[in-house]
Amino acid sequence: MIAAHRGSLLHFLDDPSKSSVDSIFEYYDDGLLVTENGLISDCGDAASLMPRLPSGTKLVQHANSLICPGFVDAHVHYPQLEVMASHGEELLDWLNRYTFPAEAKFANPEYAEVCAERFLDELLRVGTTTALVFGTVHPNSIDAFFRSCEKRNLRMISGKVMMDRNAPVGLTDSPESSYVDSKSLIESWHNKGRLRYAVTPRFAITSSPEQLNLAGLLLKEHPSVYLHTHLSENRSEVDSVRELFPGVKNYLDVYDQYDLLGQRSVFAHCIHLDNEEWSRLNTSGSAIAHCPNSNLFLGSGLFSMKAAVEHGVRVGIGSDIGGGCEFSILRTLADGYKVARLRGEDISPMQAFYLATLGGVRALDLEDRIGNFLIGKEADFLILDRGATPIIKHRLDMSKNLNEQLFAMMMLGDDRLVKETWIMGEKSHDRDANF
Ligand code: GUN
Ligand code: ZN
Repeated sequence: MIAAHRGSLLHFLDDPSKSSVDSIFEYYDDGLLVTENGLISDCGDAASLMPRLPSGTKLVQHANSLICPGFVDAHVHYPQLEVMASHGEELLDWLNRYTFPAEAKFANPEYAEVCAERFLDELLRVGTTTALVFGTVHPNSIDAFFRSCEKRNLRMISGKVMMDRNAPVGLTDSPESSYVDSKSLIESWHNKGRLRYAVTPRFAITSSPEQLNLAGLLLKEHPSVYLHTHLSENRSEVDSVRELFPGVKNYLDVYDQYDLLGQRSVFAHCIHLDNEEWSRLNTSGSAIAHCPNSNLFLGSGLFSMKAAVEHGVRVGIGSDIGGGCEFSILRTLADGYKVARLRGEDISPMQAFYLATLGGVRALDLEDRIGNFLIGKEADFLILDRGATPIIKHRLDMSKNLNEQLFAMMMLGDDRLVKETWIMGEKSHDRDANF
């Protein structure tokens, strides 16, 4: 089936923080996005493309809208929905008080299934079409999650938590069981349709050296899988890591010792890094998930986007639910902007929309599949409503140019801005329909 979506249209070809030339993005005031069998088959100015449309093409008009690629959440925990907005204390206390008890419930496969469905409903509602997702220590948490993703034809990356110490009984595995269970999940799910697997040691505090060693072995045995973990989020966490791994140069060096760095390795937070860690992230080609809403909520600290740009490290934006209290990548970006301001840094509107789309996709090493509207890419896209609320409408009507409009959308927008979410050319969420 061929469909042509007509409306204003924006997508990125490259990173605005690296180059100020106009060719990093394409914007059409009256644009056309053509999809065929779930893939992008054309994209451009409506006036020039309309005459070329094959007969029988279904034309879908999106008045007063902006069509853009789906948003990417580069770090999120699907089992932590019920932990969102839990009051009090910093990371390590918060994990023990709220997070571990909530994750223990995922021993029940039916509970995991219900939570996976609820989580994906919410992702699509806020316009997130791809995410890098933590499960729990239970392998069935990943079976439940991937089954729900498969049903909805979503491009998602996830993995079972590896955690063999410093966590409650019932929530720990062993080095051997985590290896065997992860391997079996990789064999069942990695590259099945649109799904990919991430080897997921929770963080250095909850994995023994033996377990990290086996995580490295999994990556060696399955070179196309991902590595997903936390790095340098909280000062007490960094201190604990130093005690648990005496002799390492720094926190990142723990993961480095076990060969966990690389092009498909994503480290969440990365707030308290020294220069050597920044350089090593660069030379290893690893990526960062910046989680500003969570970092503010847990009082973890202020991430430096400027340092990431200067060190040439890829960055995606993460909600980090339930350390974060906000699913919307737009709202998360608004927090990212405020964090930048507090540091005397800046995130331009173009950079923000790049981070939400192609930038996040690059951090997840998926640029060959998604992230913009180049021909052949998978057709995951959003219809953003320029009249979402009276204030948003007013502010956009008053805007003098595209930059002003994008900035207002990012600072004022949330799920209300996301009118429709399309997956592989099919509508998967409609804000105004009752479902
Ligand atoms: N570090 C280790 N586990 C977690 C978690 O569940 N959430 C956050 N924000 N940080 C972590
Ligand atoms: Zn996290």
